[in-house]
Amino acid sequence: MNYSKYFNSIFIITIVSLLLSCNGSDKKEKLKGLKEHADFPIGTAIKIKTLSKDEKLQKLQISNFNSITSASDMKMNNITPKEGVYSWGIIDSIVGYAHKNNQRLFGHNLIWHSSTPNWVKEKAAKDSLWLGTFMKEYITKYVTRYKGKVAAWDVVNEGLESHGGNVRKTMWYNALGKDYIAKAFQYAHEADPEAILFYNDFNIERDTLKLNSTLKMIKELQAKGVPISGLGFQMHIRMDTPNEVIANSLKKAVKTGLQIHISELDIIFNKHDDTRRGGIQVYEKLTDEMKQEQAKKYKSIVKMYKTIVPKEQQYGITFWDFTDRDTWIKGFFNINDWPTIFDEQLEPKPAYFGFLEGLKEKN
Ligand code: G3I
Repeated sequence: MNYSKYFNSIFIITIVSLLLSCNGSDKKEKLKGLKEHADFPIGTAIKIKTLSKDEKLQKLQISNFNSITSASDMKMNNITPKEGVYSWGIIDSIVGYAHKNNQRLFGHNLIWHSSTPNWVKEKAAKDSLWLGTFMKEYITKYVTRYKGKVAAWDVVNEGLESHGGNVRKTMWYNALGKDYIAKAFQYAHEADPEAILFYNDFNIERDTLKLNSTLKMIKELQAKGVPISGLGFQMHIRMDTPNEVIANSLKKAVKTGLQIHISELDIIFNKHDDTRRGGIQVYEKLTDEMKQEQAKKYKSIVKMYKTIVPKEQQYGITFWDFTDRDTWIKGFFNINDWPTIFDEQLEPKPAYFGFLEGLKEKN
């Protein structure tokens, strides 16, 4: 036997199989989605119609996320578009999708001025007492129906003005007074005592007046024994929102002892005034340098969340749409922007890898 030939071929086979196995585990690593690297749920809001029509999007959604929020279908204007009509069909299908894919279903939302149907507004204008009865009936019916299926609810969304610390003078507030917030939580809790109940708002990561007012409201609710269990930071931020300000806001928020949910994360480059069509196009093109900067910003957000929010208060991080193709930002503000972690061709951006690094890195 030619021993040197024999050992040579053993050597070659070993090297080849080593290379193959490295390649295999690399591939596995690549296939692992964001959720596989996180100690807390990673979610996304998405339009269910868009999701159901697009297989590639579904694959990305299933591999990266273990929590799902419907971007639009679970709001009041879709649930009860006309008096006496309740349409549950789409929600039942979301419940099925979440269950099949082992995802937590986050309920967004119960009371939001912006999604109150016209028929409710018209009726309440004539009879404010009716609104109180309707609110109880609506929340009770809805939350009871999905008891044990919807893990948590944004019970009241955006109850404060966009800026500063004032309560938003919505139809709900005008008819029922500030107490409508406490009552909404009470009704939701009675319908599903296990559900985690959130107050959710935007700009609170950077507007100190608004955050302080939110925290004061939460303290008052807690003092009255109102069953609030979470605070949602929508976190629709801009590249120039200072990290130190966000970190300080999170530090203040954790003192409430509530679950903290980053509930609608995206990061834009351009500007807006918080109103529909209020975008200001500052950047026409997304450069490589901007992509890298956005990756760093996404990484910082995860790292802040991991280091500032105690494990037992981490309800998770949820993206609001996860592709630059589908993002709400462009249509709403009427600008072109690139706020998410996947590009328009549904390929992961540096932002995706920045977020992933933030998840993987030890604190
Ligand atoms: O489904 C109808 C479709 O049948 C119709 O042809 C089309 C014509 O405009 O409208 C479709 O409904 C739209 C729906 O999204 C689904 O795509 C509504 O017009 C549109 O107003 C609705 O927008 C949603 C918006 O909230 C209002 O509900 C956005 O998708 C959603 O991203 C946005 O989400 C909000 C959060 O709830 C609260 N925080 C801010 C965030 C962004 O604005």
